[in-house]
Amino acid sequence: MLFKKINLVLPDIDLDRIKGDPLEAYGSEFFSWTIKDTEYLDQLLENRIRFGILPYKVTYDEMPNGTVPHSHSQDTATFNYYIHSNGAPTRFFQTRSGQNGTPSPRVMPNGALSNHSTITQYKLTEIKFIDKFIPESGDAYFFESQKIHAVARINAASTRKILRFAWDTVPYEEIVNSIEILSPA
Ligand SMILES: [Fe+2]
Repeated sequence: MLFKKINLVLPDIDLDRIKGDPLEAYGSEFFSWTIKDTEYLDQLLENRIRFGILPYKVTYDEMPNGTVPHSHSQDTATFNYYIHSNGAPTRFFQTRSGQNGTPSPRVMPNGALSNHSTITQYKLTEIKFIDKFIPESGDAYFFESQKIHAVARINAASTRKILRFAWDTVPYEEIVNSIEILSPA
């Protein structure tokens, strides 16, 4: 199961209370911020979803340009709540035989390379498409972070904005099975 749509409905999100300090970035494709007001985030989530296994990281992310195909080396599961989807598909791929991609760390605000968020990047010639989902704004999806994925670049005028929850160490299926949806709005 590469991905799974979750029936989570959140109220409108006040970005001024969510977008905190710059955390890491990847080229001009992916920018990550800390959560500014974590009590506000807790209020949004409480009585709606419970994670049986807590994420090691929760961030607010923006993807203005889509992303190249990549896989995460440490992260096992990602849960995205799409504040603004921009309608771009998230596509999944497998490698063609003998292709290993190129390791490529993310960069932190001080210019240092991020140890924990190393990703492996792939050229289109190294991979084969296998599946996709197209999130709408307000949708929530789990997906397997160690599978190769990419966000298509279909709408340059519209930036994808997400709340991202990340897990490492624990296998993907275990994370997905541990969540409880408490009351879909
Ligand atoms: Fe990713």
